[in-house]
Amino acid sequence: MKILGIETSCDETAAAVVAEGKILSNVVASQTAAHAPFGGVVPEIASRHHVENLPAIVKEALRQAGCSLTDIDGIAATHTPGLLGALLVGLQYAKSLAFALNKPFVGVNHLEGHLNALFLEQNEIDYPYLGLIVSGGHTHLYRVKGFGHYELLGATRDDAAGEAFDKVAKLLGLGYPGGARLEALAAGGNPRAFRFTQPKMGNGTLDFSFSGVKTACLLQVKNQNGRLSEQFQKDLAAGFQEMVTNFLRERVAQAAKQYDLQNVVISGGVACNQTLRQKLQALARQEGLKISFPSPSLCTDNGAMIAYVGGEYLKRKQPSPWSLNARATSEL
Ligand code: KG4
Ligand code: ZN
Repeated sequence: MKILGIETSCDETAAAVVAEGKILSNVVASQTAAHAPFGGVVPEIASRHHVENLPAIVKEALRQAGCSLTDIDGIAATHTPGLLGALLVGLQYAKSLAFALNKPFVGVNHLEGHLNALFLEQNEIDYPYLGLIVSGGHTHLYRVKGFGHYELLGATRDDAAGEAFDKVAKLLGLGYPGGARLEALAAGGNPRAFRFTQPKMGNGTLDFSFSGVKTACLLQVKNQNGRLSEQFQKDLAAGFQEMVTNFLRERVAQAAKQYDLQNVVISGGVACNQTLRQKLQALARQEGLKISFPSPSLCTDNGAMIAYVGGEYLKRKQPSPWSLNARATSEL
């Protein structure tokens, strides 16, 4: 079964063809350059770029997969969560294509895509597993009991981890999106020069909070009276990254213990971060856990994870109704 997957929830226009869980093509057009002058994603610009780029991206995904629209067995598109206008572009495009071609259509939750991205590369991971999504919009911890069975264990109460990376990167003049640039800057810094403390959130909670460390970084920058030395910038980036990655590691350790889970899957854009990967791999060795990360190109937003999830629903004979609408917010 060949599935075309379309993802337009934020600032990546993406399309992919996946057959039986294997990627035949995975094309992502990032709109970063269009949003960078504004320091963040401008929803209206995102929607317009999706409208302009999506037909060419879909065509390219089909070309790379060596197939035509008539070879496609089903069409999947992200319908929630994300920017409403941006979601509507991909969703409406997918529905129209499916209707015109008389193929099944399925709407996919973006978070379910992130949680399942790993299966595009390996299927040795056993249920149940602890799934952590760390992206620009979400920091969500799930107990995944089986495909389609997700229990939310904790989530951020304010900023998402990636959002905090982007905001601190902006403070340091790194531009948008700043997560990867902040990581590069932090490599030359001392992670102990600034010691940011973790928020006190009550015993046993698996929630997160990143607005405190972001504000602490802002105060440190203000204290410099407008002149940020190179070493200051590197140390602040390293200290911020240290706090965030330690916090994520602690929550993973705590949740694995609390719910007696040995398998852990980390996904979303922040899962590209090497410090996070190293800390979690060390935790895995210490605690006897099996921790897996998708490749970086499958951690960030892509159409393949949407095609994969869509394919699983179609295999189970669960297409979506034509009336399915886009929704800006949702949990799994
Ligand atoms: O999953 P994703 O592509 O989009 C969302 O669903 O949000 O994640 C994008 C987020 C951005 O906030 C970006 O700054 C962050 O992931 N990110 C990183 C790194 N690469 C991307 N954060 C920290 N370190 C990185 N290497
Ligand atoms: Zn995402």
